[in-house]
Amino acid sequence: MSLELRGLRKRFGEVVAVRDFTLELEPGELMTLLGPSGCGKTTALRLIAGFETPDAGRVVFRGTDVTARSPQKRGFGMVFQSYALFPHLSVFENVAFGLKAQRKEASELGRLVEGALVRVDLLGYVNRRVQELSGGQQQRVALARALAIEPPLLLLDEPLSNLDASLRERTRTELRSLLKGLGITAFYVTHDQEEAFDLSDRVAVMNDGELCQVGTPEELYDHPHDVFVAGFVGRANLLSGLLESPHGGEPRVRLVGDALWPVDPEGTSGLGPGQAVQVVVRPEDLELVPEGHHASELVGVVSERVFRGARIAYHVKLADGTVVEVEANRRSDARGGRIAVRPRSHARAHVYPAAE
Ligand SMILES: Nc1ncnc2c1ncn2[C@@H]1O[C@H](COP(=O)(O)OP(=O)(O)O)[C@@H](O)[C@H]1O
Ligand SMILES: [Mg+2]
Repeated sequence: MSLELRGLRKRFGEVVAVRDFTLELEPGELMTLLGPSGCGKTTALRLIAGFETPDAGRVVFRGTDVTARSPQKRGFGMVFQSYALFPHLSVFENVAFGLKAQRKEASELGRLVEGALVRVDLLGYVNRRVQELSGGQQQRVALARALAIEPPLLLLDEPLSNLDASLRERTRTELRSLLKGLGITAFYVTHDQEEAFDLSDRVAVMNDGELCQVGTPEELYDHPHDVFVAGFVGRANLLSGLLESPHGGEPRVRLVGDALWPVDPEGTSGLGPGQAVQVVVRPEDLELVPEGHHASELVGVVSERVFRGARIAYHVKLADGTVVEVEANRRSDARGGRIAVRPRSHARAHVYPAAE
């Protein structure tokens, strides 16, 4: 194991920013911590770096407990959202910053700075002042500075959030291939689900100070542990229903208007027949059909049609006011009027006990 976080806890006054935080990173793994703003991501990262001391728990790196060590002694590389660069200094001076603190000799210093700039493809900019560079280039200077100390672990806190959308997308693909090429273990913080999925080997989803689920992007998307994860990693419809007892066949759930939908049996263990449940189903697992009085259809009215390029999202308002999103390909031509929503043949909705 590369990094082990064991039961970390951090409180600021009344706020418990991080609690019961337990997570392990394999050597060379790119792990993303994903969660909404304010859920404790930066605090978790600062606990790993050593800028915060936990109230409880341990940080173990390569088998050694480093909880009591200073950030300097831990020697992890850091990249921040703000970059924290010196705008009036040259690219060289900025990248050399962390190395000078390590009292490297001039020749060694030059070699390490150049090596880091080559990796981020900025060698031609070595004498430029940082304030003359674009946002994307500044982000790469910050990355070069973190890599120059040849850290055994790289910590990145929303490093792309100051870039515009198209540059952000391109940069994250480059960043992944760079980090995987170096084989470095990295812990990456973001609130952006697409970014997390694009970048990571595994994603740890966090909410309100706690980890909810850790897994590959596919595991999280296909088997979310709870309603929060389902809604945070991609689009999800949330419906209320009652679990039906499976007579021989697969479990089903009774929805508004008595529609019966098949559900993923995985989520139903421990739930009894008649239990109130929350049903989560992805828009792409639904289809629109003409109303035909089938047992599986939910009848409603198309209230909105959202163009998404290759796909179109239809919002269908049901009798009880719930709006269901259905994603269809562009050939579908549902207009207004009454229409039925039903699960596609392969689809299995996920069920969770209804909140008290
Ligand atoms: N130094 C601090 N002093 C007091 N409260 C803090 C401090 N740092 C973070 N917090 C609080 O802890 C919670 C988590 O913050 P943070 O870790 O920055 O979340 P995130 O990075 O996910 O947005 C927030 O409620 C925040 O206000
Ligand atoms: Mg933060």
